[in-house]
Amino acid sequence: MKNRLRILFLSSEVAPFAKTGGLGDVSSALPKALYEMGHDIRVMMPKYGTISERKYVLREVIRLKKIPVKMGGAEHATCAKSAFIPDSKVQVYFLDYKPFFERPGLYIDPKTGQDFPDNAERFLLFCRAVFETVRLLHWEPQVIHCNDWQTALIPWLLKYELKTDGFFQKTTTLLSIHNMAYQGAFEQASVSNLGLPVDIFNKNNDMEAYGKTNFLKAGILNADMLTTVSPRYAQEIQNDPKMGAGLENVLKKRSKDLYGILNGVDYSIWDPGVDDLIENKYDVSDVTGKKENKKTLSEKCGFTFDESIPIVGIVSRLVEQKGFDLVISALPQMISMGMQIVILGMGDEKYHEGFTKLAKKYPKNLAVFLKFDETLAHLIEAGSDMFLMPSLFEPCGLNQMYSLRYGTVPIVRNVGGLADTIIDYDTDTGKGNGFVFTDSDDRTLLETFKRAMEVYRDQGSWLKLLKRGMKADFSWKSTAEKFVKLYSKLEKKK
Ligand code: ADP
Ligand code: GLC
Repeated sequence: MKNRLRILFLSSEVAPFAKTGGLGDVSSALPKALYEMGHDIRVMMPKYGTISERKYVLREVIRLKKIPVKMGGAEHATCAKSAFIPDSKVQVYFLDYKPFFERPGLYIDPKTGQDFPDNAERFLLFCRAVFETVRLLHWEPQVIHCNDWQTALIPWLLKYELKTDGFFQKTTTLLSIHNMAYQGAFEQASVSNLGLPVDIFNKNNDMEAYGKTNFLKAGILNADMLTTVSPRYAQEIQNDPKMGAGLENVLKKRSKDLYGILNGVDYSIWDPGVDDLIENKYDVSDVTGKKENKKTLSEKCGFTFDESIPIVGIVSRLVEQKGFDLVISALPQMISMGMQIVILGMGDEKYHEGFTKLAKKYPKNLAVFLKFDETLAHLIEAGSDMFLMPSLFEPCGLNQMYSLRYGTVPIVRNVGGLADTIIDYDTDTGKGNGFVFTDSDDRTLLETFKRAMEVYRDQGSWLKLLKRGMKADFSWKSTAEKFVKLYSKLEKKK
């Protein structure tokens, strides 16, 4: 291959090894698509305590048995193992450093429900170890593709610590922002012994924001190129201070290097025609299997199965971003409109409590599963009739695209990637692939459901609507091609 690029893809989550949300899905699917295009793509992530070495066949790498990493006057003896992303030849390096990563959670301590107090130190060490790893491999990446705050210090380190290092002379960086709400912002005290220069605490330093040390800001200012996960979100984070979460002006400074590229769907995993996690496969030519999955889901939820009652699914992190205050307040009325609702999620205590209380009150119409369950997530996609995503903001959102393929009609708020992928159904023309609303209030949500229920009752129109969704193509190939164009642009800059 003529222009085969060496790309190092860094992420704190890669499915199926470790995943709390969409970042995990993206970080396995995009590398696989880049590999299929013929590029030399390798992935690196931390080896968390939750990753089974046996299940995923992690192997030692001779050159990576000892990776000494200096940080804050100490030397940490790390090492790395490797495995392939399942059903692919994409190599993943796992940074193994038990004192920091051999824990039961990725970012949050399940015992306290709070962030680990040493998260700054953990991910700074990870970033430093990345450089040592590729050096030991004698593999000089042309592009380091970073994702979110956990790897956002890479561009900063390259610029300020490795500027004169011959090995990285030709290395460029691209930082993908998956969510501005998570910036890796730390109190000064928690970073003061990490060996970072003292001037990072100065106002207007690349790493300082609102009195804290901000990893994402350092990444935004120093990466050679930036992307975010949908075109709409790229605009929102620059123009709406709520979406920019305090860094809108920093983003504006980089406007000409910031691209909105919509995530894709890994149809080898999220397609009811090949999905091994569901009992009844189906596709657009014959959707009878969907009804069988609805029966299974209905049973699991303790609902009375009735074809005329739509099941509305939700699979999500239970956090404010996802619009759950609205769901909690509108749920009783949704139920009285004649819906059955199933929620799978984990997150903030207030939503756990709110949903549990409602589920006790409406056991026949509301089922709540407070856990992380990949199999149930697939069954909800396959067995529900509608899928609700009323997010306050949504950088991209994957479940609305998964829902389309499963013939589960998305009901979404008009923001970010939801706005870029779902077109409101028009009863007159029959055009559209879901239902879209803008105002985040009970009345608007209930009116949207009323519209959806009317179409649902007319099974002919409903079938046409869901089949149109099933035919849509959001595969990673075209997204990966866009990334390759950006990587090549970076190459030319150097
Ligand atoms: P976000 O990344 O903000 O969480 P996305 O829509 O991009 O939102 O991706 C969410 C991903 O996480 C989807 O693959 C979804 O199925 C999955 N997911 C979220 N919560 C759960 C859960 N409790 N159990 C299983 N999968 C979940
Ligand atoms: C973030 C966003 C979500 C996006 C995902 C993958 O977690 O909240 O909208 O789909 O990253 O890019």
